[in-house]
Amino acid sequence: MKKLILLSLLVTGSLIADSSFLGAKRGVAPVNDKLYEKECASCHFAYQPGLLPGKSWVKLMGGLDNHFDTDASLTPEDNKKILKYLVNNSAEKFTNYKRSKKINNSIRSDETPIAVSQTRYFIKKHREIKKKFIIQKEVGSLANCAACHTTAAKGLYGERDINIPNYGNWDDD
Ligand code: HEC
Ligand code: HEC
Repeated sequence: MKKLILLSLLVTGSLIADSSFLGAKRGVAPVNDKLYEKECASCHFAYQPGLLPGKSWVKLMGGLDNHFDTDASLTPEDNKKILKYLVNNSAEKFTNYKRSKKINNSIRSDETPIAVSQTRYFIKKHREIKKKFIIQKEVGSLANCAACHTTAAKGLYGERDINIPNYGNWDDD
């Protein structure tokens, strides 16, 4: 019995120290596809596939000729490859990543947002930010994740790593 208790203490201790307790990870999985980075991060931040569910990526990739008022069309081959990457790595595939799970759970079955910034979870998390800090030239819009989240490229969006231009660390107050 004593041995068993000791063993379970050791196991629990190392799991907690690892921070990936039960496999749960903090942010979203980082981007790991060269073609996606080349084609989808020339105008803006390379949004991680785990920030939206598969149905959103299908809809977005089906309307690239009119993509947020720009033309972002690809060849059919590249479109197919990128869509496959996005769907294979979409939010519902990453139940072990906390942010993917929360974003996905916030989307109702009858809605298909094609912007991360239009998901319920995102809106809830960003509603306290004063508009002047969003529309200022250093940021522009909430779609510009990396302007405030210093570790956005790693898929980490935690409060400790938020630094809003001309405002400072979010953590401080
Ligand atoms: C020609 C420029 C251009 C290219 C190329 C482009 N985009 Fe965009 N994208 C935009 C613009 C402009 C917006 C709107 C940004 C804003 O609201 O500030 C946008 C917004 C988005 C958003 C929503 C961001 C949010 O949460 O508000 C997603 C997701 C997105 N793009 C994905 C993609 C993907 C995937 C590709 C590659 C297939 C791609 N984009 C290629 C111009 C582009
Ligand atoms: C104007 C600065 C700004 C921009 C741009 C921005 N964020 Fe945030 N974000 C924040 C702040 C501030 C918070 C913390 C809100 C709180 O919990 O009080 C936050 C919170 C978050 C959280 C929750 C983190 C947590 O630990 O609770 C996620 C996930 C997130 N942002 C993702 C994104 C993504 C993805 C984008 C781009 C599509 C983005 N953000 C754009 C400022 C920004």
